[in-house]
Amino acid sequence: LNWLVPKTRKEIIEILVKGLQRQEYRGYDSAGIGIEGSNSIDDPYMMTLIKMPGKVKALEDEIQRNAGQLDFSRVFDLHVGIAHTRWATHGAPSVVNCHPQRSDTNNEFIVVHNGIITNYKEVKVYLEKKNCVFESETDTEVISKLVKYYYDRHQNMSFRQLVEHVIQQLEGAFSLVFMSSHYPGELVASRRGSPLIVGIKTKVKLASDHIPVMYSKDDKVRRGSSFNPDRQSLVSISEVPATPYVNDNITQVTTLEGHEVEYFLASDASALIEHTNQMIYLEDDDVAAVSGGSLTIHRHTSMKKKDQFATREIQTVMMEMKQIMKGCYSSFMQKEIFEQPESVVNTMRGRLIPKDGTVVLGGLKEHITEIRRCRRLIFIACGTSYHSALATRQLLEELTELPVMVELASDFLDRNTPVFRDDVCFFISQSGETADTLMALRYCKRQGALAVGITNTVGSSISRETHCGIHINAGPEIGVASTKAYTSQIISLVMFGLMICEDRISLQPRRQEIIEALGELPDQIREVLKTDERVKVLAEELYDKKSLLIMGRGFNFATCLEGALKIKELTYMHSEGILAGELKHGPLALVDSNMPLMMVITRDQVYSKCMNALLQVTARGGRPIIILEKDDDETKKHVEKMRYIEVPHTVDCLSSILTTIPLQLLSYHIAVLKKCDVDCPRNLAKSVTVE
Ligand code: G6P
Repeated sequence: LNWLVPKTRKEIIEILVKGLQRQEYRGYDSAGIGIEGSNSIDDPYMMTLIKMPGKVKALEDEIQRNAGQLDFSRVFDLHVGIAHTRWATHGAPSVVNCHPQRSDTNNEFIVVHNGIITNYKEVKVYLEKKNCVFESETDTEVISKLVKYYYDRHQNMSFRQLVEHVIQQLEGAFSLVFMSSHYPGELVASRRGSPLIVGIKTKVKLASDHIPVMYSKDDKVRRGSSFNPDRQSLVSISEVPATPYVNDNITQVTTLEGHEVEYFLASDASALIEHTNQMIYLEDDDVAAVSGGSLTIHRHTSMKKKDQFATREIQTVMMEMKQIMKGCYSSFMQKEIFEQPESVVNTMRGRLIPKDGTVVLGGLKEHITEIRRCRRLIFIACGTSYHSALATRQLLEELTELPVMVELASDFLDRNTPVFRDDVCFFISQSGETADTLMALRYCKRQGALAVGITNTVGSSISRETHCGIHINAGPEIGVASTKAYTSQIISLVMFGLMICEDRISLQPRRQEIIEALGELPDQIREVLKTDERVKVLAEELYDKKSLLIMGRGFNFATCLEGALKIKELTYMHSEGILAGELKHGPLALVDSNMPLMMVITRDQVYSKCMNALLQVTARGGRPIIILEKDDDETKKHVEKMRYIEVPHTVDCLSSILTTIPLQLLSYHIAVLKKCDVDCPRNLAKSVTVE
């Protein structure tokens, strides 16, 4: 934050803490804030840090405990503050490892960081040789130490110039925000690979909706140069007399000087929306500086060649407060499960025209011919997003008649998978920021393939770096375990399949059947949600068990994997999705009357095979709970009374949407019964922006 609007310290802290709560789902093992000014008479400019392991609530309590020393009523005309909620990568959650990380015990420079610095060991060794003493185990601490190291040698540099020097030395992924007692009232931020958004709140109308980006002329500092002294390195940069890094003749770009203005920086829009909907999405290697009420964005000259856009657009973000509030639900996950009748409509809105059977995906229009001519389709994703590709693979093979590969991003990269110019690669990601998926995207682009994004986050890295794509429009998803994004991803992929085969006469009856079924889905989802009470009763039977096996095949195999993932994520219970066709090749050995089992059986082309699996299981004493279709009396004959959950019948390729929802509800209820944190499962984060 930085603002020219007088505020008390209490208000400043409240804004920071509220911002953290809104983003807590991104990471929640510790939290901290850094604010300007101490109450010490010896050093009134020293910055104050308050940090706590645990959730944001623990930080809030700590702030209250310190209330006596914090002078809540002190008013600041111009002020900056930073805050961070952490998901540990280097170093366990502890006060010393919390962010902000500091340069020294006087807190001269402090920084918050999302991402991972991959060359931090080299930087650390270098700085230790220069007598820097490290206190934490984090990779981030090298950043706060490095900025002070430069400051001590080049005091004539602006804060922004110092940060520009620092980021040239960093490898890996980051979004960073810095403060310094040497530059009161200033804030400098930068990103590479991790998201960072600037929100601007002002009473005046913004004069321009584009902020020019300034380019520095001197490009002596090499990006990503190594700390190895044998190479051209930091040594030569830091020890030469300071040469101006940025051409200071460039007219300073000033926005809104003299007006009351507040700037907010955050990793995602949900933390900003209660203050402003005017936002700028920073690009990799942008350096944004806020000082005295003006915002400037700089880049390095050598980056200019790659970057065609010399301005950053101020975008009006369409998000409503109620979308990021729990309302009457006990958790965001529960709310998001129950939102699915509406979120699937939003995914289809304006895209599906049942009357003439057309599907219009505006974001793909220009590339559809190229996609139709491709050699193969590769779908790349992580976690739940990966399951959405598995759930639709069979349909896409049928409608496109192309080979379809479905890949986990990390494994795809590990294998250096061959990719060709005439491949079309899809990157599915709710957040649009998942590091592995993003790296796979960059890899495929380097091979010359067409990159298509399927994301829920407008302005995310994946949506900006792909050539074209589909926004799934499910609305903000806050619960760490993905639910409504999953069903919307499936629908987006189904619509893609329908669009690609629009002209294929032989496929028209199939297309029509799917389009009609899509129209019925919202009501059918409402019906499935009515099973909630029944699912709760089953959850009471299962919640103290050690393991749960979920079996199915065909279009519902993805449901088994996704259901098992939900159970694991939320309840910490072991669960495994099993392809029913593989039962006799191992998993059957696990089956006895004590093993908790579920099966998904719908009346499609694998129905009789599923029935065989059911009989094999019951013959071994297994007592599966079955997700089956309403009126499927045949299957019910083989199930114990009340040990089934009914879903409506839909076309085969959409059944996974309806069969997944009871498993979402089941994992939710088991988590509640086990007193697990539904929205923030231990050790997990919503948006995994690290490898
Ligand atoms: C994390 C989340 C999952 C999500 C996965 C992929 O593991 O906890 O819910 O499915 O990341 O995230 P993405 O944003 O790329 O869909």
